[in-house]
Amino acid sequence: MAKSGALDLATGVGGKIKKEEVESAVETYEKYHVQFGGDEETRKTNYSDMVNKYYDLATSFYEFGWGESFHFASRWKGESLKESIKRHEHFLALQLGLKSGMKVLDVGCGIGGPLREISRFSLVSITGLNNNEYQITRGTELNRLAGLGNSCNFVKADFMKMPFPDNTFDAIYAIEATCHAPDSLGCYNEIYRVLKPGQCFAAYEWCMTDHYDPNNEIHKKIKAEIEIGDGLPDIRSTYQCLDALKQAGFEVVWEKDLAADSPVPWYLPLDTRHFSLSSFRLTAFGRFITRTMVQVLEFVRLAPAGSMRVSSFLEKAAEGLVDGGRFV
Ligand SMILES: C[S@@+](CC[C@H](N)C(=O)[O-])C[C@H]1O[C@@H](n2cnc3c(N)ncnc32)[C@H](O)[C@@H]1O
Repeated sequence: MAKSGALDLATGVGGKIKKEEVESAVETYEKYHVQFGGDEETRKTNYSDMVNKYYDLATSFYEFGWGESFHFASRWKGESLKESIKRHEHFLALQLGLKSGMKVLDVGCGIGGPLREISRFSLVSITGLNNNEYQITRGTELNRLAGLGNSCNFVKADFMKMPFPDNTFDAIYAIEATCHAPDSLGCYNEIYRVLKPGQCFAAYEWCMTDHYDPNNEIHKKIKAEIEIGDGLPDIRSTYQCLDALKQAGFEVVWEKDLAADSPVPWYLPLDTRHFSLSSFRLTAFGRFITRTMVQVLEFVRLAPAGSMRVSSFLEKAAEGLVDGGRFV
């Protein structure tokens, strides 16, 4: 069902960007980041362009290597990556107390992997909000194939300015998406506005822990690798996110660092020292094969020029995430 063949990966690079413009889009994207002379302010001012270019360039790699849900998960021993991802989604649905008939919003929904899983798990209709047109096209097709074409829908819009009236939704969730916001308060304000009073918002948020030292050059390098490799303007601390939630009007009823006591580290699938047959494409050898394949496909022009550069910054992201995850 998912597009997971080598050719799908190659032809998908660039998303809605014209194939002949992919290389210049990679260049523009890279220039937003520290390694290429970019700075945080420019990334924040141009977040929409930066994040959209990132997902146009990276989505087919995500789908090829990771699947339809674009997020990490805390993981139990003996669980496969896929199982842990589903459980992580079910857990969030249960925390929200989703029930049939509720009007639910998925903020920054990717190609809808979590949306489909949660919709089937809780028997709810979900609206997926996403600012990336390519992902919405993919998600719409995958919803149709899953038989959810009539019960779930997508809206193309920016989560900093949502096109919904106040008090629209009975429940809202966001999975590893609001980290792309130029400021978390602006984004949480919007979520609070469109949520009905007294109802709940649940999120898996990417945060820097207290171990991060902004004066440590190694820490700064790792943070910059994650930002370029994941399309982020700036990674905020747990404290900043919690504070922004409260400022937006939320009462924080439960929060936890899920990475802290995950029996299997969340970053393990990306760690090249780890081998897994079930997530072979993420292993060192799997990644070597993907890299070589992309190189060949770009050479014979089945993949657009610039594809290898996308593969490279995604590899950097993987290294940064593993290094960051191990720094505890
Ligand atoms: C890491 S992906 C997670 C996708 C999805 N939640 C999942 O777990 O599969 C982040 C998503 O946030 C979306 N996004 C980023 N910035 C956005 C914005 N300003 N407005 C709406 N969506 C945004 C991206 O297009 C992408 O789909």
